[in-house]
Amino acid sequence: MPPGAADLTDRRWSLDELADAYAYPRLDEGAGWLRANMVSSLDGAAHHEGRSQPLSGDADMRIFGVLRGLADAVVVGAETVRKEGYRPARAREAFAARRAAAGQAPAPAIAVVTASLDLDFSQPLFTEPLVPTVVVTGAGADEDRVRTARKAGAEIVFAGEGAAVDPSRVVGALAGRGLTRLLTEGGPRLLGQFAGSGALDELCLSLAPLVVAGDASRIMNAPLTTVPETFVLASVLEEAGFLFTRYRRS
Ligand SMILES: NC(=O)c1ccc[n+]([C@@H]2O[C@H](COP(=O)([O-])OP(=O)(O)OC[C@H]3O[C@@H](n4cnc5c(N)ncnc54)[C@H](OP(=O)(O)O)[C@@H]3O)[C@@H](O)[C@H]2O)c1
Repeated sequence: MPPGAADLTDRRWSLDELADAYAYPRLDEGAGWLRANMVSSLDGAAHHEGRSQPLSGDADMRIFGVLRGLADAVVVGAETVRKEGYRPARAREAFAARRAAAGQAPAPAIAVVTASLDLDFSQPLFTEPLVPTVVVTGAGADEDRVRTARKAGAEIVFAGEGAAVDPSRVVGALAGRGLTRLLTEGGPRLLGQFAGSGALDELCLSLAPLVVAGDASRIMNAPLTTVPETFVLASVLEEAGFLFTRYRRS
């Protein structure tokens, strides 16, 4: 059975098969698609002692790499950038031909969502990207910090009136820059707002075969949605005890 269909088979999928299975849908002119990729422990933790890496593993990192390999931009909350020490995305040979054919840059841009712009602009994320790192902020953000970010090479995208970003405007603002195939890697506070504002089209949730207890947040940590939103299962893969699920908004 091809991996695109709802499927539960214990074998290692090739990068090409995974890229086919996770291909973005065809989009209307100017439209964007926001996919999230998150890992959770069996008991629902989104991190272990502040990092997601202890929940991950080789199989999860392979899916993570494929999803990056398909995206125009990786949208991420500033706290995840700070906690996980985000670096620019790499260009990978395995996806080079596919990206070129789709008219994409060799690697996705990292788009950091922040109100404070409290970011270290001397880090490789800003000084060494293959494609300029994007800072998504509000029109009322601190002007000095916006200037510093621009000087460091960042592209600024405004998506909100005050300093905060309106999560329902992010997809449109990035699509307006030609970044339509979007992948958010959280964290939970940002992802919760995307879900709550109806901006999330697809959730790729890796369920790690681990329990950690503790009080780590779930993969979404934002105000309660008024009505639970239904997602439909699009596919399931299994590898090394991980379940790689993909749900689409119904
Ligand atoms: N399990 C997983 O797959 C996964 C994935 C990612 C992260 N994580 C974990 O999650 C933790 C961090 O997540 P988090 O939920 O605390 O933070 P987060 O969502 O990554 O980032 C929160 C920050 O993003 C900015 N932000 C969020 N919403 C905004 C808005 N509407 N307007 C403007 N800026 C906005 C703010 O930055 P400023 O403070 O700069 O204004 C805010 O402090 C880490 O422990 C990380 O390891 C887990």
